[in-house]
Amino acid sequence: MSPVSPDNRNEREPYVVTSKGHTAVAINAAAKAGEWIKTRQGQVKELGSKTSAQDLVTEVDKGVEQMIRRLILTHYPDHAILGEEGVQPGAEAVTAALEEAREHDYLWIVDPIDGTTNFVHGFPFYCVSIALVVKGELTVGVIYDPIRDEMFVAEKGKGAYMHGIRAAVSAEEEPGSSLIAMGFPPDRLIAQPANLAGLQQILPQVRGIRAGGSAALHLAYVAVGRVDGYWEVGLSPWDCAAGVLLVLESGGKVTDTLGNPYDIGTRHVVASNGKIHDYLVASLQAAEATGFKKQ
Ligand code: IPD
Ligand code: CA
Ligand code: CA
Repeated sequence: MSPVSPDNRNEREPYVVTSKGHTAVAINAAAKAGEWIKTRQGQVKELGSKTSAQDLVTEVDKGVEQMIRRLILTHYPDHAILGEEGVQPGAEAVTAALEEAREHDYLWIVDPIDGTTNFVHGFPFYCVSIALVVKGELTVGVIYDPIRDEMFVAEKGKGAYMHGIRAAVSAEEEPGSSLIAMGFPPDRLIAQPANLAGLQQILPQVRGIRAGGSAALHLAYVAVGRVDGYWEVGLSPWDCAAGVLLVLESGGKVTDTLGNPYDIGTRHVVASNGKIHDYLVASLQAAEATGFKKQ
């Protein structure tokens, strides 16, 4: 579509910039947001909590989400945006917001800072995560790590890239030689016992486990082969939507912890290079660490 020129547009219609593709808009928003976040590290003024003292939010999370919303809506004013800071905390509110959001043909899923606890503590492992779902299908995934200036980009059917270099998952086949990532969400009731049980089961069998505190970055690291697999019980759509597309477009596999195909509502996620996937799913089931109630 050619850009609407100020001369021929209907004066009553808002001026809409349509000259950039979805992916370019996502990259631009993530880059701008990331630069701003980096300048705010160590400068947090308003530290709040959501569901618990472990579930942090700052004025930077809120401000960045507003910035990303404005940037996306400048180009696509009729698209829907599901952003973490626009949803009430808690699993039920997230499910309700997602059900409403699913009705839109063009749905952006935004985590302004994935790794807020790290950001607050000055632990340099956090990112911006932006995904676009078109008619129910994950179509664009962009994750930007402002500390390392690494931009991970995936487009459905076109592959995944990091700074223009095609990404590929690792070729590791042996759990014993694998480096695995996982995480601990703030929920200590259901997610924490499940993730601890999974850790206890898998740690003695693999080369190492990393819990870096950013689900999105861990997924991006699976996509580029820095870790061979990742799992976490208790995620929200914005933690993983972009990262899931990165893994899939890099030749990897993503399912829930029972091995069912990923959907944007999946909360208990396993992502891998494909080769160790069955091992991870079977291990979580053996440890009763899937996050699902036993059937
Ligand atoms: C969290 C991070 C963390 C993961 C949690 C997420 P947030 O996101 O991704 O690594 O363990 O499940 O909630 O709160 O920093 O955006
Ligand atoms: Ca997150
Ligand atoms: Ca966040």
